Amino acid sequence: MTAEFDLVIRGGRIATASDVFHADIGILEGRIAALGQALGPGREEIDARGRLVLPGGVDAHVHLDQPTSDGSVMADDFDSGTRSAAFGGTTTVIPFACQQKGHGLRAAIEDYHARAEGKPLIDYAFHLIVTDPNPQVVGQELPALIREGYTSFKIYTTYDDLKLADREIIEVLALSRREGALTMIHAENSDAIAWLTEALERAGQTAPRHHADARPAIAEREATHRAISLAEIVDVPVLVVHVSGAEAMDQIAAARAKGLRIFAETCPQYILLTAADLDLEGFEGAKHICSPPPRDTASQEAIWRGLANGTFQVFSSDHAPYLFDSPTGKKVRGEGASFVHVPNGIPGVETRMPLLFSEGVGRGRISLNRFVALTATNPARLYGLYPRKGTIAIGSDADLAIWDERREVTIRNALLHHNVDYTPYEGRVVTGWPETVLSRGEVVVYAGTLHARPGRGRFLECGTPDTQL
Ligand code: URP
Ligand code: ZN
Ligand code: ZN
Repeated sequence: MTAEFDLVIRGGRIATASDVFHADIGILEGRIAALGQALGPGREEIDARGRLVLPGGVDAHVHLDQPTSDGSVMADDFDSGTRSAAFGGTTTVIPFACQQKGHGLRAAIEDYHARAEGKPLIDYAFHLIVTDPNPQVVGQELPALIREGYTSFKIYTTYDDLKLADREIIEVLALSRREGALTMIHAENSDAIAWLTEALERAGQTAPRHHADARPAIAEREATHRAISLAEIVDVPVLVVHVSGAEAMDQIAAARAKGLRIFAETCPQYILLTAADLDLEGFEGAKHICSPPPRDTASQEAIWRGLANGTFQVFSSDHAPYLFDSPTGKKVRGEGASFVHVPNGIPGVETRMPLLFSEGVGRGRISLNRFVALTATNPARLYGLYPRKGTIAIGSDADLAIWDERREVTIRNALLHHNVDYTPYEGRVVTGWPETVLSRGEVVVYAGTLHARPGRGRFLECGTPDTQL
């Protein structure tokens, strides 16, 4: 019998953001060509009976080979970072091309494309980070780049080398409105953090755990409230990234209840870590320094409520990979340096989906459909990649992850594929793991082994963000 498809995935239980059903998936030229019962033969076939077939994840917040200003170096480049992503069931990543103050955005994009060259295993797009929205950038460079497929950008309210003043935020929001782009905001009050940090340092309180004291939930709440207010004034949707707890989340929920199109992202560290994880023996707590910092168990419960009730649309890793035991990583200023000098960020691109699946779906906190929406469909929609990415539908790229939902895995750093020397989730047991992962119909991970070459991943131009979620 002649083959009708390049590949048929047979008999799996398929879940999308809205449905769960049993079907075969017929794949032709990298796309899903048919969904149905007893599809005709493929040149190759994968037996997915007894397995769950999900859209490959879209991790819309990762940092790969991003230049830093403190002498540290990100441990993952586009090779190791995308490999790690694929092993965790993610088939699209969106890292950040970061503008250096005083320089243009195009230079940042060219540099970032050069860094990616020949390396990605899976498809990728770029967000921009806008640090210097001068009239040339806002009036000409950004509008041109948006039309070229860079339709989302992150802005900061903290970090001296990145932060924008309120007036600059307004200019960027107004530009987003004019051009139909989406602004992502890192919301923490910079001056409050600076004041608290100085007080802590004066008192000699510089151990990693004091990072959490310097960046309290109130500072995040204030900046979130301000970001929402500025977006309301400009009348434009905005997405608040890496929300850590109830204080900021309540601002977002209240705005959404008023009908404002405020979107929000949270991350594994805010459902699984607390500030106590920064308070470990010696310098170990530095492993968990990220901003905003993990909070407390009440915050974790609040975040779970927000994941279940739709306050959050996106669950990303915020993978920011620094080696722990290295002068290019967490110890860039030596062991025992003040928390102020520890690079912010933790790894998590590979564990993002298994952790949410196990803790969320497995424990009945969120439905399977919601899991798919949070990890794949919503980020694809919000960042203009849908329906090419983020779903299982005819015509969509055959980006798929075949999960063994009963497989129990003890997370060990040795098991992971990133270039980091630790995982914050060492020893944690999860149930459910993606064992086979396809990108555009090509098997990249099969039964836990790598089957594709670096550089096969394609750059994705993003379309207009869909903010009608
Ligand atoms: O601490 C964090 N989150 N580091 C990564 C950079 C950012 O602000 O997302
Ligand atoms: Zn951030
Ligand atoms: Zn980040």
